[in-house]
Amino acid sequence: MSQHTRNHILNRLSHSQQTISGHLLAQELGISRSAVWKSIDQLRKQGANIEAVNGQGYQLKSDFFDAITIQSNMPKLKRLGQNIMHFKQLDSTNREAMRQGEAGQPEGLVIFADEQSAGRGRLGRTWHTCDDSLALSLLLRPALKPEQVPQLSLVTAVALHHALSHFCPDIRIKWPNDLLIHGAKVSGILTEMRAEPGMVHAVIVGIGINLHSPKQGWPSDIKHKACSLQDHSTQPISKLAVAQATLHALDKYYDIYLQQGFAPIREAWWQAHAASGQKVRVHQGQGYIEGIAHSLDEDGALILQCSHGKKRIIAGELELLNSISTKVKA
Ligand code: BTN
Repeated sequence: MSQHTRNHILNRLSHSQQTISGHLLAQELGISRSAVWKSIDQLRKQGANIEAVNGQGYQLKSDFFDAITIQSNMPKLKRLGQNIMHFKQLDSTNREAMRQGEAGQPEGLVIFADEQSAGRGRLGRTWHTCDDSLALSLLLRPALKPEQVPQLSLVTAVALHHALSHFCPDIRIKWPNDLLIHGAKVSGILTEMRAEPGMVHAVIVGIGINLHSPKQGWPSDIKHKACSLQDHSTQPISKLAVAQATLHALDKYYDIYLQQGFAPIREAWWQAHAASGQKVRVHQGQGYIEGIAHSLDEDGALILQCSHGKKRIIAGELELLNSISTKVKA
């Protein structure tokens, strides 16, 4: 089976909710039906869960996900994905990307893992990588000053908002860079860097996306705060399709940022932000500050219009007030 045949069959089956006939695949590929059958047989031996349905055709019963399949049938990316690595299991894709960076890998490396034994979230939290979630990290080497690096989290949030809106139009960003659906968190971003004063060596952008909620339910601490794309989509969510859309959008917005600077990103971020112009409460330690979300500054700080003037917020948990559907803190 040629690489082209393999990629074509896997991509067609991954993106289709219906069965696809062997006849159609044979026509598309310009090969015989028995060659299609042989290829399907080989793919099954490689682990693809392909079912033949009542002589009507073939259907992929669960996602087949590997680096070659991710790369195939995707428009050529400009900045990312020249090298994609996929692991069944890792401690953390961020850690692996950092190790690869230290070993000299160039900008654009993408690491995927089906499972993480030590997935990490912001503020030292654990990130649960459930059966069917997407965990990936990018290795970037931008010519930025260390203080500009937080902007990359906002670039990523804008890209995720764009990519995930194809699967669920109700996606919103919540400052600083959580992705929510109806107030529950569907995706998070963890950006880390290796730098010395005035110079960035490597930036690792880690992204977790909940595709399906775990069969046994979410852990109790995040039960009311987490959701999955599938919970809010009428179509089956394909891991491959979400991974490809995500990489494509990340490449596009990273390129816009490098070419045009932060201004277009800040504008897009503000448009996609759930709380723009709304009353919010930002929890900081034991206390909180309330105000109207007024704007986002150059460093990604949230500017609040409070009763006694403007306040610049650089850390905290944002809660939307006056909104029933988005009142849950993510
Ligand atoms: C957050 O707390 O919102 C950030 C979550 C980031 C999770 C992702 S999953 C892939 C990458 N590897 C990690 O260990 N963390 C990030």
